[in-house]
Amino acid sequence: MIENKPSAPRSHTPSDMPSEISVAARKDAHLDLAKKAVPSDDMPHPLDAITLPYCALPEANLSTINITTCWLGKQLKAPLMITGMTGGTSRARSLNQLLAAAANKHGIALGIGSQRASLQAGESQAELRRIAPDIPLIGNIGGAQLAAEGGLVLAQRAIDDIQADALAIHINPLQEAIQPEGDHDWRGVRAAILAAKQTLSCPILVKEVGAGLSIDVVDMLASDGIEMMDVAGKGGTNWAAVEAARRTPNTAQLYEPFLDMGIDLPDAIHGARQVSDQLFIIASGGIRHGMDASRCLWLGADIAGIAGRALRALEDENGTFHEDRLDDYLSDFIQQIKLSLFLTGNQSIANFKKMARICQENSD
Ligand SMILES: Cc1cc2nc3c(=O)[nH]c(=O)nc-3n(C[C@H](O)[C@H](O)[C@H](O)COP(=O)(O)O)c2cc1C
Repeated sequence: MIENKPSAPRSHTPSDMPSEISVAARKDAHLDLAKKAVPSDDMPHPLDAITLPYCALPEANLSTINITTCWLGKQLKAPLMITGMTGGTSRARSLNQLLAAAANKHGIALGIGSQRASLQAGESQAELRRIAPDIPLIGNIGGAQLAAEGGLVLAQRAIDDIQADALAIHINPLQEAIQPEGDHDWRGVRAAILAAKQTLSCPILVKEVGAGLSIDVVDMLASDGIEMMDVAGKGGTNWAAVEAARRTPNTAQLYEPFLDMGIDLPDAIHGARQVSDQLFIIASGGIRHGMDASRCLWLGADIAGIAGRALRALEDENGTFHEDRLDDYLSDFIQQIKLSLFLTGNQSIANFKKMARICQENSD
């Protein structure tokens, strides 16, 4: 029997909190605002500073480059996942189904967004497991919700509902501090993650949502036995800015100095890898294409994660779905990873990462 100790009610006290907004309305507002917040491809990204070494004499064959990667007992066709975005509304259900079909077709992992809303509404997303039987499917719940009364029970229901291969627990105090309805009491979240690790029926993955896991946080989690983390660094979807945009101009200005807070994605990857060689590191935070994903692998990540850009490929500004656009985006993305390996003279990811380690050791 999994039980959380009762906790005091969590405070939600911002003066401009819209009292009537439903979780479903918030989820759909997040989708619209996040789509607009995806930086355009010509904007600079901290990953631009990472140059992969060009090799004019590759001992490799582009047609047979091997980028398969094992994760959670399954084989990915590419070191890539679509990270958790949404759930709990009919639009979110359709999006998740289309993302699941695309991820399964391309053989990449899929995370779904927070399952709290759907579970509390008594709705199941079990169809996602049927649509995506072959790939790692990752459930999702918030750290603050996990620490609240009944959090562990909710987490186990999230796993069971989709027969998840792992459960992602998102820790996002920056977003929650600015979100009009956000959770402000983060005491006990670390202890709840540890309890989840000890009691839930599948592995735990801890993730930020775009402000990055610092080396200290990775160290704390690793010492609690957490072996998989999505460092979700700065450079992509900016949730602080999305939440500030949901506030009235008067209160939004309070948060202005915090909108750029966080750890750049390359620093977050580098820091996490410094903590341990054994960690399974997912890198997300504004990854644009397969070259960016390869730069993350170069820095020490095991797989790359994309959210905002996958959403923008799938759904246009009018809310129309374009499965073909997502399909093309993912095909190009995966081919770009193969090109990155080929053009650095590597036939496999193992070789590529070995080369990266040697280059880094030589530059230290
Ligand atoms: C519309 C949208 C909704 C999201 N919802 C969640 C969520 O429910 N749970 C979560 O862990 N992360 C959520 N994220 C964060 C992403 O998983 C990811 O960590 C972050 O957006 C950084 O990746 P990106 O820059 O490629 O978007 C969401 C992202 C988007 C774009």
